[in-house]
Amino acid sequence: MSTASFPEGFVWGVSTSAFQIEGATSADGRGPSIWDTFSADRAEACDHYHRYPEDVRLMKDLGMAAYRFSVSWGRVFPEGRGKPNQAGLDFYDRLVDEVLGAGITPYATLYHWDLPQALEDLGGWPSRDTAYHFADYAAALHEKLGDRVDTWFTLNEPWVAAFLGYGSGIHAPGRTSASDAFKSAHHMLLAHGLATRALRSAGARQVGTVLNISPVLTPAQVSDFTRELSDEDAEVVARIDALANRQFLEPMLRGAYPAELLPIIERSAGLGHVHDGDLEIIAQPLDLLGVNYYTPLVVQAQPSEPADPAFPGSEGVLFCTIPTAVTAMGWPIVPDCLSLLLRRLSREYPDLDLLITENGADFVDVVTGNGIHDTDRISFIEEHLRALRAAVADGARVRGYLVWTLLDNLEWTDGYQRKFGIVHVDFATQRRRLKDSALWYRDVIRRNGLAE
Ligand code: NOJ
Repeated sequence: MSTASFPEGFVWGVSTSAFQIEGATSADGRGPSIWDTFSADRAEACDHYHRYPEDVRLMKDLGMAAYRFSVSWGRVFPEGRGKPNQAGLDFYDRLVDEVLGAGITPYATLYHWDLPQALEDLGGWPSRDTAYHFADYAAALHEKLGDRVDTWFTLNEPWVAAFLGYGSGIHAPGRTSASDAFKSAHHMLLAHGLATRALRSAGARQVGTVLNISPVLTPAQVSDFTRELSDEDAEVVARIDALANRQFLEPMLRGAYPAELLPIIERSAGLGHVHDGDLEIIAQPLDLLGVNYYTPLVVQAQPSEPADPAFPGSEGVLFCTIPTAVTAMGWPIVPDCLSLLLRRLSREYPDLDLLITENGADFVDVVTGNGIHDTDRISFIEEHLRALRAAVADGARVRGYLVWTLLDNLEWTDGYQRKFGIVHVDFATQRRRLKDSALWYRDVIRRNGLAE
């Protein structure tokens, strides 16, 4: 096989999330989520709730094999628990039928950050009960869709939801408590375990989860991964890796928290919220791990640095900027870190199948009369695909690649100004237009690889 082509059966597709595209926030009995409360922008988003047939047709025309979407918990359970809302369930029923009718395999994500506000009012993720409500929601959804949806992802990027939502307060619900952040992380892990168990006993065929795993490097390592570290830098790199990555990977895949993390959690939150038996529940066998990769975390030791609220326990760590090209979000573009990450995961978890569930970029698009020539987005995706292909050649078990994202959409606190879509959306008219990146991706899919 040439270095530009991908293994037979490699899955190509896109990912989206409910809050970012659906709109229709008060339609058909949907209950508000923490993002409706928190977001400064009106969440009409892409009106995908009404326009999904057009969006599915676009994916079909582009040749997508898989579509990863998320379900809005509050459409299904307006109060987060109790009696399900039939109209909400029916929407996902129609969506799944539409996707299957287009010859596309649906992948359902159960939690992409939009906790029902009613559950936040009862304590949110720092409350243990939320994990049990989540498992009930997972079971109800499987009952409705399990005859047609084979692949289920429990959580999307729990680190972000716990530490930006409850630690730094940059995301909904905007709380700023290290203790709440660690408790939320644990209860999300528990929610994942309970939901996985519920899905399996209901007969789900494939269950996975989605983590944002960022390689952690010093500035010097960005250009030379083999660079030796001082003891101080090595300690800092290991600590941030434990906080950002291993806090989720190891409980889920090894049934234990990283040893060096426990004293950090204990200092902020105690350990009373970690009950006997939780880690066995959390460590359910998984069929695949979804990996979202955008950019590395670049750090070095700096004794005077206070902790970053997103990383309680990060005293003495400087988060660095590096002199590399960046996306419009300011995120350094380091495609080789994707290979590094995939090689690491394949080495540490050799039996685990991986799927790139998100990768993509925000750039400023110029809309012209003859198209949207987003060459920077094409280069970004192409370079990351080359890096992915190199890892596959080394034996990384990567089943497929999903671009983030189909449509320009509501990028959380950054609103509508961010453009991650391969399809442009005019938010005044809801008109969709393919960017050059969409056409380029269609060709990648057709030839199952990059041009030589
Ligand atoms: C990851 C999140 O899952 C997604 O919702 C977000 O839009 C992208 N990162 C880009 O920030």
